[in-house]
Amino acid sequence: IFFGLFLDAVGIHLHRCHVKGFTLLLTLTFLVFAILYISDYSLKHAMPHNILYKVVNQISSYYVVVEIPSARDKTLYSATSIKANQHVQHGAVQTSVTAESTVTKRISVDHVAYPRNYHFILDEPDTCHQQNPFLVLMVPVAPHQLEARNAIRSTWGNESTVQGKTVMTLFVVGLSGGADADNVQQQLQEESRQHRDLLQSNFVDTYANLTTKTMVIMDWLSTRCAQATFGMKVDSDMFLNVENLMTLLLAPNTPQQNYITGMVMWNQPVIRNQNSKWYVAEEMYPDPNYPVYLLGMGYVFSNDLPNKLVEVSKDIKPFNIEDAYVGACLKRLGVQPSNPPDPSQFRSYLEEYKRDEFLRVITTILNSPQQLIEFWHDVKTLS
Ligand SMILES: *[C@@H]1O[C@H](CO)[C@@H](O)[C@H](O)[C@H]1NC(C)=O
Ligand SMILES: *[C@@H]1O[C@H](CO)[C@@H](O)[C@H](O)[C@H]1NC(C)=O
Repeated sequence: IFFGLFLDAVGIHLHRCHVKGFTLLLTLTFLVFAILYISDYSLKHAMPHNILYKVVNQISSYYVVVEIPSARDKTLYSATSIKANQHVQHGAVQTSVTAESTVTKRISVDHVAYPRNYHFILDEPDTCHQQNPFLVLMVPVAPHQLEARNAIRSTWGNESTVQGKTVMTLFVVGLSGGADADNVQQQLQEESRQHRDLLQSNFVDTYANLTTKTMVIMDWLSTRCAQATFGMKVDSDMFLNVENLMTLLLAPNTPQQNYITGMVMWNQPVIRNQNSKWYVAEEMYPDPNYPVYLLGMGYVFSNDLPNKLVEVSKDIKPFNIEDAYVGACLKRLGVQPSNPPDPSQFRSYLEEYKRDEFLRVITTILNSPQQLIEFWHDVKTLS
């Protein structure tokens, strides 16, 4: 565009010199189109996409070899659909601009995902003052998943000082909605007394309420832990290499404001198939594509963002895809998700256990709490 304007200016100048107008106009038009074509080409082939496609190809190839827990199909679905969709990229960006302005007219702050409509039943309001963490790992987990919590407590959740910085791990649950809810609640209270690492909010803990859970995480960080430098939302079935994460966060060029990174998802189509677990109705989210977002399995952010996200979420109609919802909030804030310095460190699946790979990654998905303990011990004792 800049060059186009430049050529236009030259054109005007030449016109003044009485060069034959029509031929000149044709030549200039050709040149402008040539330049636009070249810049468009280079944009489409810019680094981040290339890197993503590599990641995507890996994910696709794992599809055939890995048994996928249901909650992870999304990764694969999303990954494959990126390819199918790349040709509509420019059109989609256009649409998203127009559609978003109609969706997100001021909506009421009492919408279901707005975290300040809920309150904490189990809380650790002073823990950040006492420990002054640099990084807080926030793990959404279902109330009954004690085994997953214990596996994390004995592995990456027990890394309290890394590279001289304090790291804290907290678990976030909602209310158990099952028939044994009273029992589960008693056990949670006992577990909380024992470990002092549980946060429980009073929404019903269901898959459909994950957006609320994520926003509750942001609310807790902004109201109870503003002194931390970084926060991370990391799922309970993840392997997390805290050492490598800390190296990334302590790198001199890692910003400590308006920064969020993980596995970046571009241009994901909204799923309109009503039988899908990720179905979102047009009334909930009219735009055909999601804004850029970070895959929910694990993303890390500067701790100024939680408060900004909670504030802006007042105006953004919630939908049940929690990671894409955070993407919509980030877009409204004008915060662009960052590609990690080495995108291959945020993995979904690794095909098989290889120690070298686990020493190199930041996140990867595991199949069970036992696997976490097993791999962790192997990595730790032999590294
Ligand atoms: C956490 O690590 C310490 C050593 O740093 C160890 O003594 C303790 O048993 C570990 N806790 C768990 C739950 O594994
Ligand atoms: C989400 O939580 C709210 C508040 O507890 C509850 O009313 C609602 O039924 C839950 N939604 C789903 C779909 O479970």
